[in-house]
Order: sequence, then C-alpha cells, then structure tokens
Amino acid sequence: KIPLLIDTDPGVDDALALLMAFNDARHEVIGLTIAAGNVGLDHTVRNALKLCEIAGRTDVPVYAGCPDPLLHPAVDAAHVHGMDGFGDVGYSPATRGVEAEHAALAILRLSHEYAGKLLLVALGPLTNIAVALKLDPTLPQRVGRFLVMGGAINGHGNITPQAEFNIAFDPEAAHIVFSAFPHVEVADWEATVAHGLPHREVEQWLGADSDRARFYDEISRKTRLWSEDSRGEHWYAADALAMAWALEPAGATCVEQRPLQVELAGTHTRGATVVDWNRQLGLADNASLLIGYDQARFEGLVRGALAAR
Ligand code: BDR
Ligand code: CA
Repeated sequence: KIPLLIDTDPGVDDALALLMAFNDARHEVIGLTIAAGNVGLDHTVRNALKLCEIAGRTDVPVYAGCPDPLLHPAVDAAHVHGMDGFGDVGYSPATRGVEAEHAALAILRLSHEYAGKLLLVALGPLTNIAVALKLDPTLPQRVGRFLVMGGAINGHGNITPQAEFNIAFDPEAAHIVFSAFPHVEVADWEATVAHGLPHREVEQWLGADSDRARFYDEISRKTRLWSEDSRGEHWYAADALAMAWALEPAGATCVEQRPLQVELAGTHTRGATVVDWNRQLGLADNASLLIGYDQARFEGLVRGALAAR
C-alpha cells in the first residue's frame, strides 16, 4: 500500500477528503498532521480526532502542529465551516487524545520511515510543512509525491479577489514550500469550481445507512446551506477534489506543468499564486496544475466514502 500522510485543518471539506482516504484500499493513512486554518488549532485537532473515531480509525495517529501562521495573525474561515469548524453541532469529544510529537517533527520522522514512497497531501495552510522544511531542508528528497490543495491559478481567488484561502492564510509558509519542493501537484480553487458537486446528489448520498454519512450529514449541513445561499446549486468541496486526484491520479483529464510562485507583498495580491503561463521568467516548471478531472469518478469516490461502514 502507498503510505499517505495528510496535513489538514478540518474543516468540513477536509473531513470528506479524510473519509475518502480512509476508504481507499490502495493507500494506508499513516498519520494526520494538523494545521490551524479554517478554525483555530484546538478545534481542528478536536475535529480530526472525532472524525477518526466516527470512521473507526483510532489507529491513525493525530499530531498537532503550529497554532499560528509564520508571520501574520490568523484570519479563519469560520463563516464557512462553523465556529468549531464542524458545523457547530455540539458533538461529544473523542475519547482519544492527540500524540505528544509535534506535527512538523512527525512529518520529518515519517519521511525517513517511508523514504521515497511517501504520498504527502496538504489540505490546509502550509505552516507545518514550512516549519519541517526549515528544520530539515532535505525533506523533499524523501517525499515520493506531494500534492497541495491551494491557490487560484488564474487569479480567481475565494478569500480575496486574487488569493485562495490556504495560501492567503500563511503566504510565507506557502512561499517556503513552493520554493523548496522541485515538484508540487496543485489542485487549486478554480479546479474546485469547475468540479462542483450538485447539492441534490450530495443530499442523496448523505442518506446512506452508515455512521460516516450520518455524522457527515450533520457537520456539513451549515456549510451546505451557506453554499447554496451564496454560490448556487453546486457545492465546492475543494479538499475532496484534491484527494480524488491524490488517490486516483488516472482520473485527471488535463494537467499543465508551469512555474508557480507565491506573492508575498502587493496592495491587493498578497497570497496570490502567480503562474508563469508563458514561461517568461526562465524558471523551472515546479507545479503540475490540475485543470480537469473525471467528474463521474470524483463523484463515485465521494459517494463511496460516505456509504462506507
Ligand atoms: C480551502 O480552504 C478551506 O476553507 C478548505 O478546507 C480548503 O482547504 C479552499 O480554499
Ligand atoms: Ca482544508
């Protein structure tokens, strides 16, 4: 099995991506390293532990990471995910606690244990991975495949006009990460928008007779209602699409290779991902950009993850 390490800030769409990973027979989830992002670290850790419990995966270790972005104060996404990041349904906390090891150290240790084979998937701000890189710049040499949900490759941002949330939350961390890894697979916000999930179908899938579907129905209700009100008939589950690509790369129908850099300054553009589409700067192609993914395959993976017992 391919060892899969997920850095995540659960978060409603993160939770769906985790259920997809748990349901995949070809991958073994070897750990969850938790970032602050959608909500504060205390909540994202608590949510990760609860989701593992609901999915019957208390064998998966959960490591808490950095509570804040590297440089600037956090601006969260509680308006999308709820104040607790899981729709404010008041679930009872998991009985299990978090590991003692820091997420950045766990990333480095696991990169040694699974050197060359590791699939690292980042579904939140890149703070933990940036810190791991500062501790040990040789990390990229041991990661087999690295995939990030983040960015807005044509400048159609979701949190500012030009920037996507995960990158805008901690632009310095994203800059460190994109400068250090020679090759990053990027599932950006614009790919998410091109691959929305129809609310009517999602509601049917959530009716499956499984603990996972029942729990997910509850924690996602608030964000689905918000999404329907503000964005219309499709739900944009960014992290789920990224996970589909991670788990089933053959589902990608169009991927472009280009240089990608992160904007750190700018009056309106801090946190933007600048893609050199015409290769004008003479930089290496460090990013594979997801443009198209087989929609039926994506929906099948989501449906299967919710129905699993
Ligand atoms: C990303 O930001 C978060 O709100 C989601 O979980 C996803 O990772 C989308 O911009
Ligand atoms: Ca996320």
